[in-house]
Amino acid sequence: MKHETEPILQVNNLVKDYVSRGLLNSKSQVFHAVNNISLELYPGSTYALVGESGSGKSTTGKIICALEKATAGTVTLLGENYTNDSPSQLRKNIRGNIQMVFQDPFSALNPRKTIGDAVIEALQIRDIGSSGRERRNIARDTLQRVGLSVWHMDRYPHQFSGGQLQRVNIARALAVQPKILILDESVSALDVSIQAQVLNLLQEIKEEFSLSYLFITHDLSVVRFIADYVGVLFKGQLVEEGETKEIFEHPENEYTIRLLDSVPRTDPQQRHLLG
Ligand SMILES: Nc1ncnc2c1ncn2[C@@H]1O[C@H](COP(=O)(O)OP(=O)(O)O)[C@@H](O)[C@H]1O
Ligand SMILES: [Mg+2]
Repeated sequence: MKHETEPILQVNNLVKDYVSRGLLNSKSQVFHAVNNISLELYPGSTYALVGESGSGKSTTGKIICALEKATAGTVTLLGENYTNDSPSQLRKNIRGNIQMVFQDPFSALNPRKTIGDAVIEALQIRDIGSSGRERRNIARDTLQRVGLSVWHMDRYPHQFSGGQLQRVNIARALAVQPKILILDESVSALDVSIQAQVLNLLQEIKEEFSLSYLFITHDLSVVRFIADYVGVLFKGQLVEEGETKEIFEHPENEYTIRLLDSVPRTDPQQRHLLG
């Protein structure tokens, strides 16, 4: 892969071990959830991390987002290694720049808070906006940008559909002006037609706000639509990586080939543009 710019994010030899105690004896066993992963995310691009359930995708995302600590390896943002930063340094330097959107749109939100307050809270945590009024305005504008209306602000999560709630979660992430979004199966729980709408929204805001995406998914049919690069994870290891078109047309790894064979043959572009 040739690039004219430096990567915005670099993951180097990342390892995450979980230690568990055996059921039959008390011997502890080490399990490599992430086993020596290296990847680069370039400004303005989308890198799709694909692989079956349990392959280490979410763990990788959480470490990048500083929600989990790595066992070994480093992650750098614009060349700065933050792997060993203190919680206060992470809050200051990372949390605003790297935001994560999860799969379940409902559980990410407090059911007792209006969606306006959910976005305002994200702004407060990041110290954005000089007054309550300004934060409310930013929240309103951001919610409008993701396709919601001003009268939605005073409603509660249970009054929204899954697709609308995922828009709220995207607004929450977007409002703090991040550089990178980590989208962990963010459309996987939505109906296909709604998936298409949310994917289109993600494409639009990526351009508009100069974002870079790490798009985590087990669903290869969305990868072709959204990703510039693909990394295939298998049992914690990156077994193949490359430009999306190359991976889809000339997969080399045996596991990648199997994964691609399991994708429905409908044209994903068509399928998603229908929405
Ligand atoms: N906190 C944890 N403790 C022990 N094992 C974990 C923990 N989190 C994840 N794992 C294990 O690590 C592996 C990778 O998990 P995960 O990153 O969630 O995979 P994916 O997102 O690809 O489905 C799985 O086998 C999972 O059971
Ligand atoms: Mg996961």
